[in-house]
Amino acid sequence: MRAIAKAQPNIALIKYWGKRDSGRNLPAVGSISITLAELFTEMSVKLDESLDSDQLIVNGNADERLLPRVQRCLDDVLGNRRKAARVVSQSNFPIAAGLASSASAFSALVVASAAAGGQNRTTAELASLAGQASGSAARSLYEGFVELENCDDHISVKSIRPVDEWPLSVVIAITTTSAKAISSGDAMEISRQTSPFYSRWVEQQSVDLNAARSAIAARDFEQLALIAEHNCLKMHSVMWASRPPIIYWNTATLDCMQVVRELRSQGVAVFFTIDAGPQLKAVCLPEDESRVQDALAATAGVCNTMISGLGAGATLVASE
Ligand code: DP6
Repeated sequence: MRAIAKAQPNIALIKYWGKRDSGRNLPAVGSISITLAELFTEMSVKLDESLDSDQLIVNGNADERLLPRVQRCLDDVLGNRRKAARVVSQSNFPIAAGLASSASAFSALVVASAAAGGQNRTTAELASLAGQASGSAARSLYEGFVELENCDDHISVKSIRPVDEWPLSVVIAITTTSAKAISSGDAMEISRQTSPFYSRWVEQQSVDLNAARSAIAARDFEQLALIAEHNCLKMHSVMWASRPPIIYWNTATLDCMQVVRELRSQGVAVFFTIDAGPQLKAVCLPEDESRVQDALAATAGVCNTMISGLGAGATLVASE
């Protein structure tokens, strides 16, 4: 009746931006990500018939705003005749600021709620349920390099390279800890409806996915760097050309981008990627992580930096 799960966020190298079916939350494009190791969300779900209604506590505070989305996810996993739940979520990184907190939260939520309900679901089923709640969450069920493929009426997710075969580091430059003004789900819908670049974005995604898949198979850092930065900037161009424009960056984000490009021109194997928020994620070889961290920490406007290796998918920590 009570279970605890732990899941890490993932960072997309080839991005998901746009939905082809918003009712079932099916993405318009496939994506490739890396699952992180050190950042995590721990989620406890207790099903309790003595409760009058569902409760959600996020990092120590009741969260009424996120509760309906959590309730929909619980209904998807357990059915709407389920018992009321007390859900307690704790993350060790800033949430709702473009650090993929919904990915770790919803992947941990499906694992914990399925276990609390006594279910024995496959990872593929859990990924599909997590994806219904948040598209990127489906990828956090898997380790290392992960590809989400768009099939006819469903998604298929798998790990395409385990962590130990290509351990990379991610340095995160936090440029603000405030929550973002617009959620990625709402923003991508505005892009679909208004951006003149949206249809080209969707059409071209398979080219970028092929290039990234080949680079990962060959452990070719330079090729991965080129295609990941290209895909990231293309996604942000789609956003910038939306009406109203969607601009998640601040000046520190741009300065961090310049720092990464400068390091690369000096021969450091590093590239950047940026999601629906102003934080910059620099992906590099583990031997360069201190150099990359020092350079980003010294950049004006960076309030904090974090380092993570690549890690495993969501796991069940306890169930009773
Ligand atoms: C920019 O997974 O947050 O991080 O399905 O509406 O919850 P919803 O969207 P979400 O979008 C993630 C967008 C992104 C790119 C990515 O992670 O692939």
